[in-house]
Amino acid sequence: MTGRIKGIGSYLPKKTITNDDLAKIVETSDEWITERTGIKERHISDPLVEKPSMMAGEAAKKALEDAGIDGSEIDLIVVSCTTPDLVFPSMACCVQQAVGADGAGCFDVNSACPGWLVAYNTAQSFIESGNSKKALVVGTECLSNFVDWNDRGSCILFGDGAAAVVLEADDTCPSNKFIMHATYNKAECLRCEARMQPKRWEEEGFFDNTYFRMAGRDVFRFAVTEVPKIITELTEKYDFSFDDVDYFILHQANARIIETIAKRLGQDISKFPMTLAETGNTSTASIPMLLDTMKREGKLERGMKIVTASFGAGLTWVANYIEY
Ligand code: ACO
Repeated sequence: MTGRIKGIGSYLPKKTITNDDLAKIVETSDEWITERTGIKERHISDPLVEKPSMMAGEAAKKALEDAGIDGSEIDLIVVSCTTPDLVFPSMACCVQQAVGADGAGCFDVNSACPGWLVAYNTAQSFIESGNSKKALVVGTECLSNFVDWNDRGSCILFGDGAAAVVLEADDTCPSNKFIMHATYNKAECLRCEARMQPKRWEEEGFFDNTYFRMAGRDVFRFAVTEVPKIITELTEKYDFSFDDVDYFILHQANARIIETIAKRLGQDISKFPMTLAETGNTSTASIPMLLDTMKREGKLERGMKIVTASFGAGLTWVANYIEY
């Protein structure tokens, strides 16, 4: 048995910040941001209300409603998050409480932006080993708490939000297909020290490093090199071709990255849907959020073949071949 996606849901904070709004905070312009990234606006959470745990719970409730499944039927919850509002309990335990899944197994994973795919693959392993029948896989992120709002090179990129899917064991679903890679060699490209370490507060430069730090060009180069490679590796490992794929659902980081990858794969850009213009980069939530948008727009049909791929801090990069 492998899990089939039965329901999808997402949560976006109410407040939006446009590129023009950002131009009042840092030296930038709508023209620069649009041309370099494709992003027009992003949702920024109310820090006192729309915490990662809350957004995860709301997205999970919508996914359950979409699946027609009651929270009490869920036996596993895996949440991906790098910006949790609690050190413990886990975000997954918070989701459990929100959806009424008392007794379900709960844990979080941290694999940066590809984390939702890692959570998905973990849940699939539980289902394929017979240890779960109905699982919630959630990605939630609040990078607005971690970006340096004085750094125009990074604060323009990110938005907050959460998205979730319900997986249900299904004997007609093909086995889960994925590849995961990581290398610490380029870890300095994307880094953020944990802020809550009072014993380190005297350390020189400590607080500066607790903000999101990124070497943008290096990340760009890494993404446009490694994502086409891992997708090609996926086709070879599982014996399918690019032309068999209905959609390539890529991490919503930057439209130029996605366009370059489409070109390198020789695939039409229409097979690469995007939501980043309205959401910015929501990190680990970006892929399930795009799936949710596509479902609501009627673009997902049962049996469709989807390749997903993401990249992020670690550096990590992951790709999946999913039959919807
Ligand atoms: N507005 C105006 N000018 C800017 C801005 C801005 N917001 N940001 C940088 N610039 C300037 C720079 O200062 C530089 O000026 P200079 O030439 O006078 O020195 C110039 O623009 C070019 O800067 P670059 O950093 O080289 O610009 P680049 O074309 O590489 O675009 C960007 C920057 C958009 C960040 C790009 O490198 C990128 O998208 N990289 C990938 C980032 C990414 O995807 N990160 C997320 C992955 S991990 C995760 O999702 C958590």
